[in-house]
Amino acid sequence: MPQVLWYFSAFLVTAVFLAIVFCVRFLRSQRYLLGTKIPGPAPIPLLGNLHTFAAQTSRVLEFLKEVIGVYGPTCRFWFGTHLVVAVFNPTDVQTVVSSRKMIDKPFFYKPLRKLWGCGLSSEPLVGWKKHRKIMDPAFRVKLIESFVDVFKTKSEILADRLRSHADEQPFDVLGYALKFTIDNTTQTTLGTSVDFQTGESSELMEDFLDMKNSVWQLVLLNKLCTFQNGRESCLMTKKELRDQSIHVTITAMDTSAIALSTVLMLLGLHQDVQQRVIEEQKRVLCDDRHRSVKLEELREIVLKESLRLFPPLPIMGRRVQEAVDIEGYTLPAGSTVIIPIYLIHRDPRSFTRPEEFYPDRFHPSNCQGRHPCSFIPFSTGRRDCIGKTYASVLLKTALSIILRQFEILPCMSREQMEAVGFQVTIEMKHGYKIKLRPRLW
Ligand code: HEM
Repeated sequence: MPQVLWYFSAFLVTAVFLAIVFCVRFLRSQRYLLGTKIPGPAPIPLLGNLHTFAAQTSRVLEFLKEVIGVYGPTCRFWFGTHLVVAVFNPTDVQTVVSSRKMIDKPFFYKPLRKLWGCGLSSEPLVGWKKHRKIMDPAFRVKLIESFVDVFKTKSEILADRLRSHADEQPFDVLGYALKFTIDNTTQTTLGTSVDFQTGESSELMEDFLDMKNSVWQLVLLNKLCTFQNGRESCLMTKKELRDQSIHVTITAMDTSAIALSTVLMLLGLHQDVQQRVIEEQKRVLCDDRHRSVKLEELREIVLKESLRLFPPLPIMGRRVQEAVDIEGYTLPAGSTVIIPIYLIHRDPRSFTRPEEFYPDRFHPSNCQGRHPCSFIPFSTGRRDCIGKTYASVLLKTALSIILRQFEILPCMSREQMEAVGFQVTIEMKHGYKIKLRPRLW
């Protein structure tokens, strides 16, 4: 036998031997024994269910729905030898988000560090604990209320930019919404007066992402320092500040822009609801259509209903740090929990006729008996969205200004809107198209 063949055979035998040892050890492991008790699609050796997921990348949300339909509200997948458990019942979601044993983020958040910068939502637990404590005070309601004038000015710029489209022709609003949100977050978080909506955006964006402009870091540093109970002691290094500020800006930008675009699309489709929002505005503003709206003056039901149907972050995950019991199953340490927010929001046990756009379902009288974890667009618990109040105030202000100036006309059908994908954020496969015409107030 030639020597090369001999080496190859030896290599093959060793590889097969090691694979067998690995499989036997895995099949005897606590993780496997506990994992197999949880119902889920049949795995194949070494790959688990990865092959099924790989074939479903364009329809992850539908695939999850089908699996939950077949195997029940707590079901499992194997990503190779890694156990992933989907949790769908609101009571179990509450167990997950309120547990101290499941605060950390799982493996699939790591690539997000490249996409969104290494910041609160994806960084390792030790860093998260420290940074969340420092940053929480910067997102308190009082402070965010002081941003309303910035939000209003930037919303007026957005409305000016949209005026060129007030010709009843369809156009994609997401690009406008993205520039609008980044404009607000850079101004309010970094405290510097850049204008992505009207400025030389590509250069500014590059400059921002590179953080070439050291003034930006210093402004945030200064802000966070003063937020430390009024004491001027900064607990973050310059690098930490840079990472966190890029992260917050990018996280806020994508999610808020998607939320704004989808609520506009839905209002175009539901003229009756749009009319009611306008009547509410007229009542609140009286004759002064140029004034700012206060937070408490506009109800949130339309926004909530839009976030229910199209949550910008449709799936979130947690890493199980220590074994926990859910629905009678033990989830071993090291496994991953996924929470399909999008599917939970469309569960008929929580929402009658779940596919219908019906904002009145959020009237307090209609919410009685509904589990708090049946509606979690901003997540909930210790690791919830730090920018939830920020987003709420920003979106309400933008919506109010846009609706004062334009009628939104029906454009895409609900069926077209329902074609959604999942690329970290939700993705409308047919785009974010709306039609506008000037409103006669
Ligand atoms: C409609 C808009 C928004 C939605 C639907 C949204 C949703 C969420 C959700 C579901 C999470 C939890 C993610 C997870 O556990 O995997 C989250 C986390 C986060 N969000 Fe938002 N968000 C929005 C706007 C914002 C804004 C405006 C900011 C900042 C100004 C922001 C900053 C963050 C940060 C930093 C985290 C990580 C928090 C942590 O892990 O401690 N978000 N968001």
